[in-house]
Amino acid sequence: MTDPDIKKGLAGVVVDVTAISKVNPETNSLLYRGYPVQELAATQPADAVAYLLWNGELPTAAQLEAQREDGRPWRALAPEVKAAIDALPLDSHPMDEVRTAVSVIGALDLAGIDNVLDATGTVDENRARSLHLYAALPAIVAYGQRRRHGLEPIEWREDLDYAANFLWMTFGEEPDPVVVDAFNRSLILYAEHSFNASTFTARVITSTLSDLYSAVVGAIGALKGPLHGGANEAVMHIFGEIGDASNVVPWLDQALAEKRKIMGFGHRVYKRGDSRVPTMKAALDSLVEFYDRPDIADLYGTLESEFVARKGIYPNLDYPSGPAYNLIGFDTLTFTPLFVAARVVGWTAHIMEQMASNALIRPLSLYDGHDERHIEGYTADT
Ligand code: ACO
Repeated sequence: MTDPDIKKGLAGVVVDVTAISKVNPETNSLLYRGYPVQELAATQPADAVAYLLWNGELPTAAQLEAQREDGRPWRALAPEVKAAIDALPLDSHPMDEVRTAVSVIGALDLAGIDNVLDATGTVDENRARSLHLYAALPAIVAYGQRRRHGLEPIEWREDLDYAANFLWMTFGEEPDPVVVDAFNRSLILYAEHSFNASTFTARVITSTLSDLYSAVVGAIGALKGPLHGGANEAVMHIFGEIGDASNVVPWLDQALAEKRKIMGFGHRVYKRGDSRVPTMKAALDSLVEFYDRPDIADLYGTLESEFVARKGIYPNLDYPSGPAYNLIGFDTLTFTPLFVAARVVGWTAHIMEQMASNALIRPLSLYDGHDERHIEGYTADT
């Protein structure tokens, strides 16, 4: 059944207002609280951008230090969270580990609160909860990768910033500034993107007056899918299938003949290129040079030019971030959890915005099922 009023996938539907970010596909721009994301990625540490998204303004040095101080107690892997991850099979997907870990953190925080409605609390409480998740996620994601390699967790170092600590806790080596800079940019680019599928999921859950952690758990579930965050992982699987640049044309011929989606290309909002790609591509280029891997740049460029020439569909952020994370040394399965650690900022900013101006999100549907019918032999009692 088709009906002109049905907007399948909510495509083109404006459902609410937001002051957090502005995506403009016409000018190919993305603003966080008014600032172009490219300027933020080039000048700010990731946690200053988190402050901006939560509070509306960039922090002063003192405000950033205070936020770091507030996050300090949550940077270590909590024993309950470690135990919950350790209880999962080693081959469970890291997105399942992260979803479980956030759920455990939420249960610990909300324990003893009888009424879920009260658990939404004030904006200040939820800002603290947002910071808690943001501070805890590097240890959780890093531990997930280390656990799969049979390694013990590594603790946060006071002398390193957020991005550098993420790398330190994952690899146990002092990260090079080139790598820290590329990774920091990726965290900023991934931090927020208006009403994408996972953020909208978080807002739907919040609209029922559920708690912040439940909304983040739901958002993680939405991000896992390969049409959304799971694409950065899927890009690396594609690179693995293709092997090297000389195989791109036959691989693409076959993939398109089989009507496969080419992961890392296309976007619901941007139809002429994703505003974040040039910045992330520059970060990837710096990593290609640092690790001396021109083969990756060749494969990247050849697949992009062949696919764009055939379909006119451009790369999205997951296309350069997948190989960038691979070069840094993250397991492919860890890519989408990295997206979680960055996007938790945007999710929680939207959760607080939804709480501040709530209306239950409950759309309608057009029924096209069976005509009314009845159970044989049933007679109404009255
Ligand atoms: N590979 C092949 N064909 C594609 C691709 C792709 N990556 N993207 C779109 N198309 C084609 C579709 O098959 C469709 O063709 P048709 O009209 O002949 O049926 C047409 O382009 C329109 O595509 P839709 O899927 O309807 O576009 P939509 O706006 O709904 O989807 C989406 C956007 C889901 C991102 C899509 O481009 C896609 O599946 N891309 C691959 C997954 C991906 O990279 N996701 C990451 C998104 S960005 C992010 O999360 C950071």
